[in-house]
Amino acid sequence: MKILVTGGLGYIGSHVTTLLLEKSVDVISVDNLENSRIEVLDGIKEITGKQPIFKQLDIRDENALKNLFKDHTDIDGVIHFAAYKAVGESVKQPLRYYHNNIVGLLNLLNSIAKIGIPLIFSSSCTVYGQADKLPIKESASILPAASPYGYSKQVGEQFVKDTCKAHKNFNAILLRYFNPIGAHPSVKIGEQPQGVPQNLVPFLTQTAIGKHPVLKIFGSDYDTPDGTCIRDYIHVMDLAEAHINSLEYLISSKNTSKCETFNVGTGKGVSVLEVIQTFEKVSGKKVPYQFTEPRDGDTVAAFADVEMIEQKIGWKAKYTLEEALKNAWDWEKNH
Ligand code: NAD
Ligand code: UFG
Repeated sequence: MKILVTGGLGYIGSHVTTLLLEKSVDVISVDNLENSRIEVLDGIKEITGKQPIFKQLDIRDENALKNLFKDHTDIDGVIHFAAYKAVGESVKQPLRYYHNNIVGLLNLLNSIAKIGIPLIFSSSCTVYGQADKLPIKESASILPAASPYGYSKQVGEQFVKDTCKAHKNFNAILLRYFNPIGAHPSVKIGEQPQGVPQNLVPFLTQTAIGKHPVLKIFGSDYDTPDGTCIRDYIHVMDLAEAHINSLEYLISSKNTSKCETFNVGTGKGVSVLEVIQTFEKVSGKKVPYQFTEPRDGDTVAAFADVEMIEQKIGWKAKYTLEEALKNAWDWEKNH
């Protein structure tokens, strides 16, 4: 089997790639390296003893993408990660986010829909906006997105659904991730964003190691037990496994409709302060933090109802928050 992974050297894409290679699946990985590094290929090779076919390519370049499919006519499926992902940044740079997340997806759909290559699309729990009922079920209403990033995922989901309707051989799965954290347990790959991290855990580990003087907690007065936002933090290896199971489900035609949607989370809500306390416990490091204003675009609380993916795909998160934070910390120290 041969799978195309877009954004394949990024955080989630690189972890999924290791699992695919370990299952003897051939991987074509494309990435423009805007938020990743070519050295990730070395980490993948050290873990698996294999390498994907890698092409540095920007998926906004429609011709480059078309040529890729001309050169590789035997692709059995696509896992699409290539996009921008920072909620707060998207509020400041909406057009940059819309351009990348939407044009890239349209180009990809144009290349695969007619020939019926199945797709796994990286969506996000941000599509729910601030859900009024927790845990969030897939059937929850899609409320106005709290950020341009969230809106780009709502629109992206709709594009994929409409394309499935229009092309009888084209099927897809939308995976709505909650908050991926941690690193491969070998700590040969992990989360290594370019520039200052926007996400909580990489900023936290970088603060603990001394790269930043203090971690800012965005908001102290939310309507939650300790006043900080609540998220569902899922180990990136669990998330990666969910892709493998979803791909097997889709490729072996076990899907019950042309486009199915699944939450991927642990089902547990954890506050920002609880993340910091758990990190301090597993690392033995004190993390300096200060409360600041809430961040634009943030929702108060989000955690997943995971019954659907468990029942239909047979996937369930295995790692604990402690393990995920320990791997994140070991990765920070080692790379
Ligand atoms: P990441 O930034 O680490 O990986 C994305 C990769 O795509 C990067 O390597 C980047 O260089 C590449 N890329 C971006 N635009 C590209 C383009 N136009 N052409 C080619 N390559 C391009 O992000 P990630 O955390 O691995 O996220 C992967 C996907 O999952 C994204 O679609 C993101 O929106 C989604 N997602 C992420 C999270 C999260 O918290 N990490 C949560 C929910 C959904
Ligand atoms: N936070 C801080 N300080 C920081 C960074 C984050 O207090 O320096 C807080 C945020 O306010 C939020 C929580 O930590 O309450 C988590 O924030 P992240 O930026 O780590 O994650 P988000 O929930 O904002 O978004 C992430 C990804 C999105 C994805 C979403 C799914 O960036 O791509 O998870 O829930 F869609």
